[in-house]
Amino acid sequence: MKFKALLISLVFAYSSLLFASSQQGAVAMPDTYSANAAVQILKQGGNAIDAAITAQFVLAVTLPEAGNIGGGGFMLVHKDGQDDFIDYREKAPITASRDMYLDQKGEVIPYKSVYGVFSSGIPGTVAGMWLAHQKHGSLPWKTLVQPAVDLAEQGFIVHPKLASNINRYIKRMENKDLAVNFAEYFSKAKSNELFKQVELAKTMIRIRDHGMQGFYQGKTADLIADFMKKNDGLISHKDLATYQAKSRIPISANWNGYKILTSPPPSSGGIAILQWLEMYQLKSPTKQVAHNSTLYMHLLAEIGKRVFADRAEYLGDPDFINVPQQQLISENYLAFRAKDITLNKISITEKIQTSLVESEETTHFSVVDKWGNAVSNTTTLNLGFGSGMVVTGAGFILNNEMDDFSAKPGVANVFGALGGVANEIQPQKRMLSSMTPTIVLKDGNIFMVTGSPGGTTIISSVYQSILNVIEYDMTATQAVNAPRFHHQLWPKNVIRHHNGIRNDVKTELKTMGYELDNRRFGDMHIIVNRNDQLEAGSEASGRGKAIVIH
Ligand code: DON
Repeated sequence: MKFKALLISLVFAYSSLLFASSQQGAVAMPDTYSANAAVQILKQGGNAIDAAITAQFVLAVTLPEAGNIGGGGFMLVHKDGQDDFIDYREKAPITASRDMYLDQKGEVIPYKSVYGVFSSGIPGTVAGMWLAHQKHGSLPWKTLVQPAVDLAEQGFIVHPKLASNINRYIKRMENKDLAVNFAEYFSKAKSNELFKQVELAKTMIRIRDHGMQGFYQGKTADLIADFMKKNDGLISHKDLATYQAKSRIPISANWNGYKILTSPPPSSGGIAILQWLEMYQLKSPTKQVAHNSTLYMHLLAEIGKRVFADRAEYLGDPDFINVPQQQLISENYLAFRAKDITLNKISITEKIQTSLVESEETTHFSVVDKWGNAVSNTTTLNLGFGSGMVVTGAGFILNNEMDDFSAKPGVANVFGALGGVANEIQPQKRMLSSMTPTIVLKDGNIFMVTGSPGGTTIISSVYQSILNVIEYDMTATQAVNAPRFHHQLWPKNVIRHHNGIRNDVKTELKTMGYELDNRRFGDMHIIVNRNDQLEAGSEASGRGKAIVIH
């Protein structure tokens, strides 16, 4: 037994040396502050998990749209040849109930699951980072949280895109006449000016000094619980004290000569991307269909109809429902599911069942260190700036993740989302997610780290990034910037797409019966390791930054 353990560690030591000989690591981050802080941690000898924890806390300061300590997310870790999935998704409060967003007639109350603290799930981020640190971190916790403390205390320069997002959000809240306190905290953030967050700095200091307890107990917990009481929210001391992040087994599947490690439930994303990739393999008629051609877009849209029908029917929190995970990604099932796809005709939507629609603002980042460890992390408050509510005295925004549940099974919620019993609200249940942090291995080594924000479109961004790199040989930068598209059964036959789809393709798709919706989605930050050379790519439309360390 001892000999076996020694042999395994020698193999890892050897492969680490190989990796270290040509590369020093890479980060692909949604903003410059997180990128620079993560690089600093790697340069200090921290591993990919250390860098990811620092990035997560920095983003809670500098990317308030989605970076957070008041929300949740998923972190996929590949370390020393082992895989782990840290689920720090929010949970429904103990006093939540299935019909909490319905009026007396059983109708969904507009906006109730979206704005204000009644829309917030129990935050999971700090517990998630703590668990990641306990299991996989190497530098002291305090070192990892300090950059966020500094940026909150001393301030950071507000990017024009952040300033414009803030202004737009404040106007929207005013127009809708929604009583949220977001503007009290963020109207002072002006483009290209220094912005300090004094209350947030104090919260970060408590987290730095007391770890997870600095958030879920003591002063921060008191501030959250008081804020809830004053604003008719549900999260209590007990909810906070009992929240735990979970370590789950990532989904792992062989595809096309690669091993894909991806997100298990309560994410729908891992099952969805594997279904998409596998059905694509089964149905693509030639070795390679031209990228973003009519055939390519139609075939992937057809597959999307089936993926999203399954998502609505079968997926939810595995601690509460039985998800037929293996069956949903088995080759036999997918061959059966794909069999009635035709390459020149759209299937009838109504015959394929229902699906969900989500809204957007989340953030993703990827890290690879010099030992060949990797982190793929997607985190969110749900919509941009979450519930719009900042915890008074604690300075951080609370999520509105409760909207990811189906407010009423089988009935569209305020955003037109449909869902089944599998994703109905229950106390302490996690709401279904589309976040899909994913790592692709080749011969046991990191080949690609990928993920994106974008609600349900996340799934399309992720599987298309994999096709872009593996099937179409794109670099990381090309892969994140190539135009993407998304179809999810409902709205009927609508393909949402980025700019850059060829006009003749669009005309042909319309002739087939598709409707085209030109609206950008996602913000990809990926790393590719091709021939032992790291490439990092951040999507040009955002404010991201990708750095390869030499
Ligand atoms: O977990 C989910 O699927 C959603 N709450 C994510 C929202 C999202 O990605 C918005 N992003 N742009």
